[in-house]
Amino acid sequence: MSTLILEEITETTGAMVNDFDAERLTADEHLPDAVSEALETFGVLIFPKLNASDEALVRFCRKLGTLIDFSHLPPETAEVMEISFDPSNPNAEYFASNRFWHIDGLLDEIAPKTSILTARVTSETGGETEFASTYAAYDDLSADEKELFADLRVVHTFEAVQRMTYHDPTPAQLEEWASRTVREHPLVWEHDSGRRSLVLGATASHIVGMDVDKGRSLLADLRDRTTGPGKVCRHSWSEGDTVIWDNTGLVHRVCDFDHAKPRVMHRSTVAGQEKIK
Ligand SMILES: [Fe+2]
Repeated sequence: MSTLILEEITETTGAMVNDFDAERLTADEHLPDAVSEALETFGVLIFPKLNASDEALVRFCRKLGTLIDFSHLPPETAEVMEISFDPSNPNAEYFASNRFWHIDGLLDEIAPKTSILTARVTSETGGETEFASTYAAYDDLSADEKELFADLRVVHTFEAVQRMTYHDPTPAQLEEWASRTVREHPLVWEHDSGRRSLVLGATASHIVGMDVDKGRSLLADLRDRTTGPGKVCRHSWSEGDTVIWDNTGLVHRVCDFDHAKPRVMHRSTVAGQEKIK
């Protein structure tokens, strides 16, 4: 039986994993179950100064599920995506939107289950990552709201999130954004586990069948309530920290930092198995 020494961060989100040695990633056969169980409860697990290699992290993550292949992206490791604003990084343009609350992969057919992020080079100031529970957000709704929202559906688009960064897009940007898949999701996700969470974030464009402005203000209100005081787990990175989170039960974002200075994060992502329904 694998035991994690956990220290709760906020009432609803996050736990620090103390006294944890990187060797356990590959040596402890019960660790994947212990991590999955802790993620279900806490949403985010922070392993301070773990200093694990990409290889050890990938070997561990494979035990959590199927890793998404990033081999179309730099760097060389197919299961590790490098997140940086280095001009040579072809995705740097899109990483700018990471500063808005979002769930990864809502435009994919199935959103990823688990994300694993490690700080390789940290910014001098800023660049913290914040998390807030979308399970707690659902639980906090009034009974009337739960009834009202049960059948609402939300359209998610790439354009919605990009417009938050690029307020005056070029025709080429608009054309590229329009080529991306549009997804419609329920506002309330009833998970296979029976738990319910809200499906929110920067990709949310409008609510089906509702006046666009009215729908947007409802979505903004729900986002603000989800991420209100006392509900956010904020992690200030040190090099070598690894954070694992349940992408299906949280929104997250990165805080501002100087993009001209180096900041390098390595991410691996475990594919989801459950469609949002
Ligand atoms: Fe993200």
